Amino acid sequence: MEGLKINPWEVSSEIKEQDYPKLIKEFGAKLIDDKLLDRLKKITGDLHPFLTSRLFFAHRDLDVVLDDYSKGNEFYLYTGRGPSGKMHLGHLLPFIFTKWLQDKFDVDLLIQITDDEKYLVKDISMDEIRKNTQDNILDILSLGFNKERTHIIVDSEQSKILYNNAIMFAKKLTASTAKAVFGLKDSDNVGKYFFTSMQAVPAFLLSAIKGRNVRCLIPYGIDQDDHFKIARDILPKLGYYKPSAIISKLMPSLQGTGKMSSSDPNSAIFLDDDEETVKKKINKYAFSGGRDTKEEQRKYGANPDVDFAFNMYRALEPDQGKVSRAYADYKSGKILSGEMKAMSSDAINKFLSGLRERKEQIKGHVGEYMFDVNRFKD
Ligand code: TYM
Repeated sequence: MEGLKINPWEVSSEIKEQDYPKLIKEFGAKLIDDKLLDRLKKITGDLHPFLTSRLFFAHRDLDVVLDDYSKGNEFYLYTGRGPSGKMHLGHLLPFIFTKWLQDKFDVDLLIQITDDEKYLVKDISMDEIRKNTQDNILDILSLGFNKERTHIIVDSEQSKILYNNAIMFAKKLTASTAKAVFGLKDSDNVGKYFFTSMQAVPAFLLSAIKGRNVRCLIPYGIDQDDHFKIARDILPKLGYYKPSAIISKLMPSLQGTGKMSSSDPNSAIFLDDDEETVKKKINKYAFSGGRDTKEEQRKYGANPDVDFAFNMYRALEPDQGKVSRAYADYKSGKILSGEMKAMSSDAINKFLSGLRERKEQIKGHVGEYMFDVNRFKD
């Protein structure tokens, strides 16, 4: 869309909720319609709130994965994180959703940590990136992933298997494609031109190891789409299936537009923000769908769908019955913005304290989740 940028390395701060359907059309992916949701529900028994709220709203060939799955064919999940700093709640959304998918389908999951990417695109030392890597992995694992079926790939550590597959991919990826898709210039370092080859590997790695095609479903935020659009072009040329994708909108900044971003601390809620900081950020910065005065709010009600506090509450409150009631009451004017903010801060703080507790327990066990090629050889 005119002027709006959304790619792995840049997201325009003006992006709003209503831009997403248009963007997805432009990207050539499909919206998840009610029929597809029904189909998912038949298999999974219930729908995750991220599906009913349309946070995960688009896909590429999700139906193909489901077709195959119904015929008894396995698939695996793949998602990832670039360890550029500490994690905020936005980064965690795809992992929360991926865990739900893994639990429902009982499948393997590859999690790629792209430390190489962050070295190439950010002004940050490898030492710093290594520290972030350790900390981010703990944050991700504190969601409680299945140890038997979750496999973490750190690019710089598993470089042998990644590199040998990445060069197959790189041979088919031209500089002009990388330039056109990411808007790279001649002055950009060559690592950026190559990098999609690394992020593409986990999308076919299990097929490469097993020597037969296995379908891969990748949950990600829409900013990552370019990499996988390229991967879908190239993988069939190497004899592999096109990867499928399930794609989310980006959680906006507290101020309501663009994306929650680490580069502006007041735009984001970080996983290590303490209770007071969370309350303060929500009260001071959260974009409100409420009215200007108490009287107007009582009379006309709020717009919960654009309200940051409500959206966080919807994402993190485990009791979805409570969420439906809050939606109706906020919309009708029974609840005021201040009350909504308090409910939201409580839900966020409960979620974060659970994470922090499990993070302590997982320390010392990270090695048990590391990718081991021998576990996938038939
Ligand atoms: P990274 O670390 O920038 O982001 C990790 C995941 O979080 C998503 N994301 C968001 N989702 C919702 N709201 C937000 N505000 C928000 N900000 C980020 C991203 O879309 C991503 O899914 N190169 C990748 C790491 C990676 C990867 C993958 C991601 C490697 N392989 C496969 C997804 C799938 C990166 O730097 O993500």
